[in-house]
Formats: sequence, C-alpha cells, structure tokens
Amino acid sequence: MLSWKVWSFLLVAGALGTTTAAAKRPPNIVVMLADDLGIGDVGCYGNTTIRTPNIDKLASQGMKLTHHLAAAAMCTPSRAALLTARYPSRYGLVGSDGWGSPVIAHVASHAHLPLDEVTLATALSRVNYTTAACVSKWHLGSFCNFLGRSCPGPLNHGFQTFFGIPVTLFFEFRGPHAFWKFDLEKPEYQRLLGTWVVAMVSLALGRKYFSWRLRSLFLLLVLIDALFFVYWFTVAHVGINDECLWGVSPWLQRMANSLLMRQDQVVEQPIQLDGLSQRLVQESRKFLEEHANDEQPFFLFHSFGHAHTPMYSAPHMKGVSKHGEYGDNVEEMDEGVGALMAALKELGLEDNTIVYFTSDQGAHLEALDLEGRRIGGYNGRFKGGKVMGGAEGGIRVAGIYRYPGHIPAGKTLDTPTSLMDLMPTVLDLAGLPTMQDIMAKSHALKPRQDLDGESIADLLQGKSRPASHPPRIFLHHCRKNVHAVRRHRLG
Ligand SMILES: *[C@@H]1O[C@H](CO)[C@@H](O)[C@H](O)[C@H]1NC(C)=O
Ligand SMILES: *[C@@H]1O[C@H](CO)[C@@H](O)[C@H](O)[C@H]1NC(C)=O
Repeated sequence: MLSWKVWSFLLVAGALGTTTAAAKRPPNIVVMLADDLGIGDVGCYGNTTIRTPNIDKLASQGMKLTHHLAAAAMCTPSRAALLTARYPSRYGLVGSDGWGSPVIAHVASHAHLPLDEVTLATALSRVNYTTAACVSKWHLGSFCNFLGRSCPGPLNHGFQTFFGIPVTLFFEFRGPHAFWKFDLEKPEYQRLLGTWVVAMVSLALGRKYFSWRLRSLFLLLVLIDALFFVYWFTVAHVGINDECLWGVSPWLQRMANSLLMRQDQVVEQPIQLDGLSQRLVQESRKFLEEHANDEQPFFLFHSFGHAHTPMYSAPHMKGVSKHGEYGDNVEEMDEGVGALMAALKELGLEDNTIVYFTSDQGAHLEALDLEGRRIGGYNGRFKGGKVMGGAEGGIRVAGIYRYPGHIPAGKTLDTPTSLMDLMPTVLDLAGLPTMQDIMAKSHALKPRQDLDGESIADLLQGKSRPASHPPRIFLHHCRKNVHAVRRHRLG
C-alpha cells in the first residue's frame, strides 16, 4: 500500500507535468530580412542621422550582434545560406568562373534552391509549425511552369503560403520605359537601317527589271517589315546593346519580371511600387492575426523589398529623411519593423516569439540609377559592399535576436557569428530537436549532415564558451572559390 504522502506527491508531480507540457509549446518564430541594408545605415550601429527607432528598440530588447556575417555578398546565395545553414557553394547557387551570374536574374531562370536542401521552413513544418509564411522577396527560384518544366518556389521549400516577389526588385521596375527606340548614333541601329534600305532597293529593282506584280511586292514588303520588326525588337530590347544590363532592356525587364504573386499565381504585373512596403506589412499582419490563437506555433519570414533599388516609398514617407530617397527607403523599412512588432504586442505574442532581424548583405555602394547617380547605402567603417568579392562591407551586417526571458535585453555580442546560424540557433532556443533529428523521421528528405551554421543559443543567452571549444572557421567565397578565411577561437 502506498502512503497518502506518496499519493499526494504523485498527484502534484502529475499536475506539474501537465503544466510544463502546456508551457512547452514552442515559441513562434519571426524572421525579418532586409535587403542590401548597410550596417552603417542603422541608428543602433552608429548612424546618427538616419532614423531607425524601431530597429534600435528591437536591439534594446534583445541582443545586437556586431560581428554578424553573410555567407555571400549577393542576394540569392546569401538567402539560400540563411535558410539552409549551408554555404551556397555546396549546392551550386554561386555562378560560374567565367560569366555566370551568381544571382537569379529572371522569373524564368532555371536556377533554384535544390529540392533536397532542407530549409528552416521545412524543418519547422515537420515539428508541427503548421503555418509557415513567406511574405515579400524570395529570390531562390520561381515557379517556372513552362513546357511542363517546373522549378521549385517557396511552396516547395516548406512554406505554406507565399505572397510577394518571386525574384527581386530591379531598378528598372520603376517605369515607365520607352518601347520605341531608334538611335542612329549607335552602330546596331545604323546596320538595321542599312539592311532595310538594301531590302527596299531590291524590291524597287525587282519591280523595274523583273516586272514583279504589285500583289507579290506588297506581300514581300509585309514579310520583310515583319522580319525587320523582329530584328529591331532584338536590337532594342534583347541584350544586343549596352543598355541591357540583365540581357533585356529596361522596358522588357519591367514587363517580364515585375510581378507580385500569391501562392503560385501572378496577381499584379507590373508591381505598383509606391505603397508596396505597407501592403506587404499588412499581409504579414493579417497572417499574425489569423494565427495568433492557433494551438500550434507559426513561422513568419518577412523579407523586405527595402532597401534594394529601385527607391520607392508611400507618399507619407517621401522626403522624410536627411539622406534622399535611400534614407526614405530605410526609414520606411524601419516603420515596417515597428508595425510588425506592434502587431506582435497587440496580439499578445511578444513574449513567446523569437524575433530575428538581419540583412542579406551589405549596402550596394556601386548602385546607380538610370541617370548615373549613386543610390546605394553605407557600410560604416567597413570597406567594400554588395557584389564586391569577399570585402567586409558586403558581408558584415546588422543582426538582432530578441526572445524575452531567454536572451538578455540590451546586450551586445562581439563574437563572430553567421547568418547561417539561424536554423540551428532557433531550433535550439525553441527547445526543439536538431534539424537532422527532425528530418531523420521523415522518409521524403534525407537530411544533410554537414551544416555550416551552428547554434549560438548559448552565446545569445550570455553564457561563455569553454576555452576547449573548437575554433570556428568562416569561409568567404567569391563565386565558388574561397576568397578569404576567418578563424576565431571562441574560448
Ligand atoms: C547614415 O546613413 C546615410 C545613408 O546611407 C549615410 O549617407 C551617412 O553617411 C550615415 N551617417 C553616419 C554618421 O554614419
Ligand atoms: C504534432 O502534433 C501531433 C498531433 O497533435 C502529435 O501527435 C505530435 O506528437 C506532434 N509532434 C511534435 C514533434 O510536436
């Protein structure tokens, strides 16, 4: 017979067991990713003239990483690494040694994040994060259903919903651009005109010396002009001239690539840019509202269109900053960060949500608009920027983790860390198994064992690592070649 003491002990233990199980519901995860935001463009990283009160507030409530490194100084590879915790050179999203863009440049591009890579969204969806949403920029391959070929998009990489830009924003999206062009100063148009004159003279000679009938002449004229239209279109819009930065003219770039999608359907083309930031934030807010009271936690990936070119803002954000259109852009993004944080607070989700903010790479120092004016941001004391090899300014970015009660508020972490640490770190912070353990239960995907990111949950929680901790190695690639190596002893 058990004594009443043992019985009551068992009852209390049972009750405690249930409460801890209920409290054990993993936290929600919100990742906010800026685009081309320079570390020198943020107030809490030392900028005194640009206003980023919401990012600064986030830093004051969480931990600010001062040595936070992107895996690449370019969108596609850096974003792939962020979501998979692996260097993009492991799965080919790096471009080739000769010409070969390391970035996906068209909606119809075949390049994509391979399906056997496991993203944070895929891992979380296997542990009952039933709702993963990707809002705004994806840039890791789009739904290019053409002739039965299909390329994977966000919905094939663990996200249940997608609303946003399949590739990226290009400065040409700020239209309109001329369709009709005929610039006789350029040799390609001179050749075009020359061949057309020869064709017309041949028609006239045919009529004179071979007595071609008028009807045949007319048919020939229509045929020749149709061919010349195709020739002209190729010259004017498809990459035979120097104005076609991405292989197509600004007009064609905007007509073909500027599109907004919901799930795998195009819902707007070309994109109405001004006010886009607010619309995307509204979408994420709606997602938060819909899932605030769910039994299962959610994962929201809000990947801002800002501060990438082209510069655009809603009317109330035009001319508000001291740094022209770029500054307006950054401040509008900051407003978005504030709106998302306010939504979390209103919905009572603030404490049980891990929030991470970073930028895919440093500012694009060399960005120019069509008139040749510089429109990129600022990387503070770091040299170089986006697409400038492994130069520090292109890969050293702002990074903030916030998780009240788990990560101390207002602290700074100077240890080198990587954007690739996201997946192992949030799984660890959320008390979930590692990605490999999660995926081991799934038969569809064989998980990669070789992750390049590692959990920094201990560092975020303010613990120091023992001197025996193995040194950490960071590789910096230029396309697929290793360009620099950083070695850090953590102990
Ligand atoms: C703040 O950011 C702007 C915009 O990039 C830049 O022009 C300016 O130099 C920065 N100021 C400081 C003090 O870092
Ligand atoms: C996911 O939810 C199902 C059904 O509620 C439950 O049986 C399972 O244990 C959960 N899995 C995890 C990893 O939490």
